[in-house]
Parts: sequence; structure tokens; C-alpha cells
Amino acid sequence: PLAVGLIGYPVEHSLSPAFQQAAFDALGIPARYELWPTPPESLDERFRALRAPGVLGANVTVPHKRAAFARVDHVAERAQRAGAVNTVVNRGGTLYGDNTDVPGFLAPLRERGVPLAELVVVVLGAGGAARGILVALGEAGCRQVVVANRTPERARELAAAFGAVASSLDHRLASHLTRAGLLVNATSVGWDGVSLPLDAALLEALPATALVYDLTYHDTPFLQAARRRGLETIDGLGMLVHQGAESFRLWTGQEPPLAVMWQAALAARR
Ligand code: ATR
Repeated sequence: PLAVGLIGYPVEHSLSPAFQQAAFDALGIPARYELWPTPPESLDERFRALRAPGVLGANVTVPHKRAAFARVDHVAERAQRAGAVNTVVNRGGTLYGDNTDVPGFLAPLRERGVPLAELVVVVLGAGGAARGILVALGEAGCRQVVVANRTPERARELAAAFGAVASSLDHRLASHLTRAGLLVNATSVGWDGVSLPLDAALLEALPATALVYDLTYHDTPFLQAARRRGLETIDGLGMLVHQGAESFRLWTGQEPPLAVMWQAALAARR
């Protein structure tokens, strides 16, 4: 049998095994999707094992997306720009790194027909996740991208690298929000089910037509506040499923069974 798995630390709470296994089973591919919890000191060994025959590759998650970069033989351009690898493909002992978070982020927006090229987009956060979003938004060619972060220096660095505008996360963000068609939370704030990445009152500055997107794959206080304000929201489950579908396509060369993956992800999230 073939093997593929998730490299991260920790990995126990991931939904990937549920929806990836469902995809392999649906297409009758004799592969097992495994959890490969990997502390940093075992990362080299884990990557050596990926080169073995019968290993399709891996997904890579926190905290190894950046470290994976240096451990593959070839890196796709979008992964290069994102500075992170979330998918590794083993092709006869040679490892290819890619970043499927980039198309994964765009897929739910494209499905809704969001006219990204016309929009001002405000991204909250300036970490690894935000960087991947800026690569995606660059591909989509938005009117303007604003990066807002708690630590202003990191916002400035990221904005400079991607031709975006930097902002603080405080009241000064309001002048950008009034023009925004899309607001994205790419900070790590919200998993606790309590915290918001910005003062909820700032959401009042958004136009009534603005879309609010959180990369977290369950409902967050941020999205709840946006809905109370009457705004349409997107959570991160679609991005999760679509990044996984693109990984599946890279490992197998086959069209991913998206509906099957969606159903399995929804069932596993509960
Ligand atoms: P990731 O890979 O998830 O992006 P990261 O690189 O550690 O993780 O980045 C976390 C992001 O969440 C950063 O933008 C961080 O802001 P700082 O650059 O100021 O640290 C943001 N973040 C984390 N905790 C936060 C908080 N309590 N309030 C606002 N932003 C926060």
C-alpha cells in the first residue's frame, strides 16, 4: 500500500486524515493518510523517509512549513514567494515542494464570483499565513492590498515585499476599511472562541457589501461580530478542503473528489 501523511507538531487535531482518506477511498487508490507528529529534531529523518518507494509525499503544517522549504529538492514558484511549503511530492526519490494554501485561499472566493481585481483587500496579520495570502492576492491582482498588524514593523516588511500598504490594527485602520471589499483575518487570533484580532467597533467602518473571511476553519468571534453587523462571512473550512484537494491532485495526478472531501471535512469538524 501507498503512504502519505501530515508532518507537524502537534497534528492530532487535524481534519486532513478524515477528508484525504475519504478521497483515496472514493477513487479506490490503495493509500493510507497517516499522522506523522514530528518534533523539530526528527524533521531530517522524517524527510529522508519521504523519499522511499511507496510514499506519495506529505502535507506540512505548523511549525515546519518554513523548514520544509530547505529539505526538498525543488520548490514551486508560489511556494518560493510564500516562503513556505505545505505539500511535498515524492517523485522517484526526488522531493518537490509546493504551497497549495495559495490556490486554496482563492477557491472559495472564486466559487462566489468575488471580483477580486476590483477590490481593496485588508489583511489582518503579518505572519506565515498572511504571507501566503499576499501571494494569492498578488496572483488575483487586487486593486490594493492593505496589511494591518499588531507589530507595525512586520506589517511594513510584508507590505514592502508585496507592493501593499501597511497599517496598524487600531482606529487608523478605519480609513482603509471604509474602502475595503474584503477583510481577511490571517492572524492566529480566534481559535480560543473568545478573542478578536481587532476592536469589533472597527467593523462598522466596512461597506455593507464587504465580505469577511477568517482562515480559521470553524466559526470565530470575528465572523460572529461581522454577521451581527449584517456582513457576509467565509470561514476557513473551504480553504482547508481546497488546499487538500490541490495536494491530492499533486500526489495522485487525479481529479480530487471535492464533494466527498467536503462531506468528510464537515463531519470531522463537528
Ligand atoms: P502564522 O503562521 O499562523 O501566521 P505567526 O507567523 O506566528 O503564525 O503569525 C501570527 C500572526 O498573528 C501575527 O501577525 C501576529 O501579530 P504580531 O506580528 O504582532 O505578533 C498575530 N497575532 C498573534 N496574537 C495576536 C493578538 N493577540 N492580537 C493581534 N495579533 C496577534
